[in-house]
Amino acid sequence: MTEKVKTIGVLTSGGDAPGMNAAIRAVVRAAISSGLKVKGIRRGYAGLLEEDIVDMNTMSVTDIVQRGGTILFTSRCEEMRTPEGQKKAADICRKHGIDGVVVIGGDGSFRGAQKLSANGINTIGVPGTIDLDIACTEYTIGFDTACNTAMEAIDKVRDTSASHERCSIIEVMGRTAGHIALWCGISNGSEYVMIPERYDNDEQKIIEKILSKRRIGKKHHIIVNAEGIGDSHGLAKRIEEATGIETRATVIGHIQRGGNPTCRDRVYASAMGALAVDLLIEGKTNRVVAYRDGGFCDFDIDEALAMTKDIDEHMYSMTRRLSR
Ligand code: ADP
Ligand code: F6P
Repeated sequence: MTEKVKTIGVLTSGGDAPGMNAAIRAVVRAAISSGLKVKGIRRGYAGLLEEDIVDMNTMSVTDIVQRGGTILFTSRCEEMRTPEGQKKAADICRKHGIDGVVVIGGDGSFRGAQKLSANGINTIGVPGTIDLDIACTEYTIGFDTACNTAMEAIDKVRDTSASHERCSIIEVMGRTAGHIALWCGISNGSEYVMIPERYDNDEQKIIEKILSKRRIGKKHHIIVNAEGIGDSHGLAKRIEEATGIETRATVIGHIQRGGNPTCRDRVYASAMGALAVDLLIEGKTNRVVAYRDGGFCDFDIDEALAMTKDIDEHMYSMTRRLSR
């Protein structure tokens, strides 16, 4: 029989995401309310390997539910990819009396969690990434805030684009996934949304769309481009040359990763953090928390990492339909 977990470690890893603090707070408070001790592992796996570990209590997480970023800091760590690094990380957990770990991060971070689990430390992943690119879950911490930030930024670009009767290409984040672009494409009423999952490299189609909109009286044009396609400045130049319409590119960048989390990100991150603690209390390991079909659930990490995710086809075809 597995020993009952007594001390939980919590870390954030990979790109930060608004709502990670709400998840940390939930882990700390849920664990303490269940009689467990909590240690904060700072700077992700890099901090774990350097034993940058601090005791946490209920006051360690006061006044953070509304803050973007992560109070535990985050990092990317090459050493954790090696078998030696993974064994060392598990040994350090044991040395500090940590018998359960909650890893808040993306797919890459879950691979680290998988290895910690294989090395004997009960580990649960919580999906934290603005990219929404984790296959097993319909929600990831930070996506909602990032979309709202990008949407507001695009609204602002639209004001100036309309005043100057220009075409604007706005590039949003998402790594190789087009979810943020798709949601902004709809919420900003863009004329064209370019996502890596569906892009056919046919710029002529975009040019013809712009020209046909001009012909029916449209005076400005909003094209949302995903960073997975990129080259927004080059595209702007080519569109301007081909159409004769002044065109500008805006790459929104890291402001999408910051800012106070939305209500949804605070609430879902809290629920996921608390569920991760419950799973550890039940003696589970190598699991990842997810949101699917209207409820919170969990998956085996190996299964979760083997799943693939596509863009929501219904939403994609709707964007095209509504931008006619
Ligand atoms: P994300 O978690 O947002 O996907 P990364 O892909 O950068 O971000 O991964 C975060 C960290 O997770 C990496 O820097 C590394 O320490 C760890 N990690 C990634 N892949 C693996 C792997 N295959 N094995 C062990 N650890 C990994
Ligand atoms: O995964 C989150 C994310 O912001 C991606 O959208 C983007 O591709 C990447 O991280 C940027 O990483 P960095 O902050 O290291 O430039």
